[in-house]
Amino acid sequence: MPLVSMRQLLDEAAKGGYGVGAFNVNDMEQIQAIMMAAKETRSPVIVQASRGARQFAEDLYLFRLIQAAAELNPEIPIAMHQDHGNSFETCKSAIALGYTSVMMDGSLKEDGKTPSSFEENVDVTRRVVDYAHERGVTVEGEIGVLGGVEDGHGAGGSGLDHITDPDQAVEFAEKTGVDALAIAIGTSHGAYKFTKKPDGSVLKMDVLIAIHKRLPHTHLVMHGSSSVPKDLQDEINKDGGKLNETWGVPVEEIQLGIRNGVRKINVDTDNRLAITGAIRKVFAETPEKFDPRDYLKPAREAMKKVVALRMTQFGQAGHAGDYAPIPITEIAKGYANGTLSTQPLVAAK
Ligand code: 13P
Repeated sequence: MPLVSMRQLLDEAAKGGYGVGAFNVNDMEQIQAIMMAAKETRSPVIVQASRGARQFAEDLYLFRLIQAAAELNPEIPIAMHQDHGNSFETCKSAIALGYTSVMMDGSLKEDGKTPSSFEENVDVTRRVVDYAHERGVTVEGEIGVLGGVEDGHGAGGSGLDHITDPDQAVEFAEKTGVDALAIAIGTSHGAYKFTKKPDGSVLKMDVLIAIHKRLPHTHLVMHGSSSVPKDLQDEINKDGGKLNETWGVPVEEIQLGIRNGVRKINVDTDNRLAITGAIRKVFAETPEKFDPRDYLKPAREAMKKVVALRMTQFGQAGHAGDYAPIPITEIAKGYANGTLSTQPLVAAK
């Protein structure tokens, strides 16, 4: 199957009432782990690369690996997404490579660190939407600012610093025409999200629900959605790792989000933890080994397990065969003739 539009994937998820995991990749083993999980659970999937990942792997290596994944798994709808694009140029270069979706994170300035103004965010996101939609490519925007830093991108600080204002979310969706909207509800990138199991004082599911009530047909995106499970932390620490105790986003909160308009769930940290734990185990138990395959294989298997579990928990499992891919050129026509809406339905307060 060719790479599919993320918009199609999310529209289908909305119809089916489920969420779709968006898993970050940097290398072949991570891509293979995701595809093994998608195949096993028969899941449509979003694969995403940050700017850091594109730099680390080099654009062409990474993109060709994704093409190989699509070719080897014709039964799986895959959307290839630019995670946290920092500028029009970053998004344009991803589109030139063949990515079927981009995130224009205009919540931060181009340095990827300084929060921008609402007007700046609308302006750059709108420009990306116009450019991308002409080419049938999906756009995710962000309103409010996530906490933490990922791959050098992020304002840092707490997830509570810039929670999304529901009125601004409505205005942003109307003015930009984005296909998917990332909102800030107290989560942050990385392992250190919460100092105890999060409750409503730090994880603002009420804000998410309020936004969904105003924008009932807008695909919402939860970033920073790793659950940072204790068993993965323990696995690392038992073999010499030094992670401090920490909490992520409980899966049941993500499932509550999915019941309230969340269609894309970003997960990176859980996979990093699984990979590191598996590699540490091999090093600790069999220090005489030095063939990278001896630790990359268990690492890939450990990531596959986490991804397959999330696919089941998010509800995307079993939906790979529900629909045929719409060619990107047809998607572009849909944006142009209005059959693919870019104006959100807004409900009264
Ligand atoms: P985690 O760090 O919680 O996995 O979040 C990843 C993410 O949001 C990527 O954009």
